[in-house]
Amino acid sequence: MRIRIMFGVLAAMTVLAAPANAASAVSEPAFPRELNSKLNVCNLCHGSNGAPLRTPIPVIWGQQENYMLKQLHDFHGGERKAEVMKWMAEALTTEELSIAAKYFASQKWPAKAANAPAAAAPRGMAVCQACHAQNFLGAVQAEGVSTPRLAGQSYDYLVESMRRFADGERTNNADMVQIMKDITPADREAMAKYLSGL
Ligand code: HEC
Ligand code: HEC
Repeated sequence: MRIRIMFGVLAAMTVLAAPANAASAVSEPAFPRELNSKLNVCNLCHGSNGAPLRTPIPVIWGQQENYMLKQLHDFHGGERKAEVMKWMAEALTTEELSIAAKYFASQKWPAKAANAPAAAAPRGMAVCQACHAQNFLGAVQAEGVSTPRLAGQSYDYLVESMRRFADGERTNNADMVQIMKDITPADREAMAKYLSGL
């Protein structure tokens, strides 16, 4: 019940915000109207042009489809804990979660800010490239599982998600927990700075 009310409030907010955002509102002719309004709720936080409203909300426009679908299921099942995203994932049917992952994956990653700082590659980045791809755009791995794009994700989001893996707060991937435990906070910060500037 609480989820429905929460979602209803957010959906009403998108309607109110509609005139200002009309051009960028989700209105896929192939989708039922209800699904379009649900996807507009996502953009309230993740941004109606792909740039999240504030950090540490992650960019999802142009993110790897299979990665996002796994996260949505993990939020839903509690394997990845984030209260707001649990509500969001519960407000969509299983089929809608797949459509949402596909829809956002097909959107364009937001353009890099002109003044985005570029940092030199810190040591140890080659390890990450083995899974996240040479250019850090993420990659489809065995059995359709994908690693996420890291290039151009916000510094605040990256550094916080790396800390959560390291501190065992995010445990939905055992490799990432192990890898982050072995990296010092200062090195994680340098890595996040580098990746956010790509
Ligand atoms: C009220 C704000 C808010 C709304 C609305 C919202 N999200 Fe999120 N979303 C977040 C935050 C914050 C995170 C980061 C969660 C964390 O790691 O603690 C997130 C994370 C995600 C992630 C994981 C991204 C990654 O890189 O791991 C996906 C996928 C996602 N959201 C999809 C959606 C979809 C689809 C919707 C709409 C059904 C939606 N979100 C609605 C705030 C929101
Ligand atoms: C063995 C393969 C592997 C290696 C090596 C690896 N990663 Fe990952 N990484 C993954 C996978 C798989 C995920 C998605 C986990 C999940 O399902 O939530 C991930 C997730 C992440 C995330 C979370 C992104 C998001 O959007 O929430 C960050 C940040 C990250 N990795 C950074 C790194 C960095 C930095 C390195 C190098 C020090 C690295 N990873 C090395 C496989 C790997």
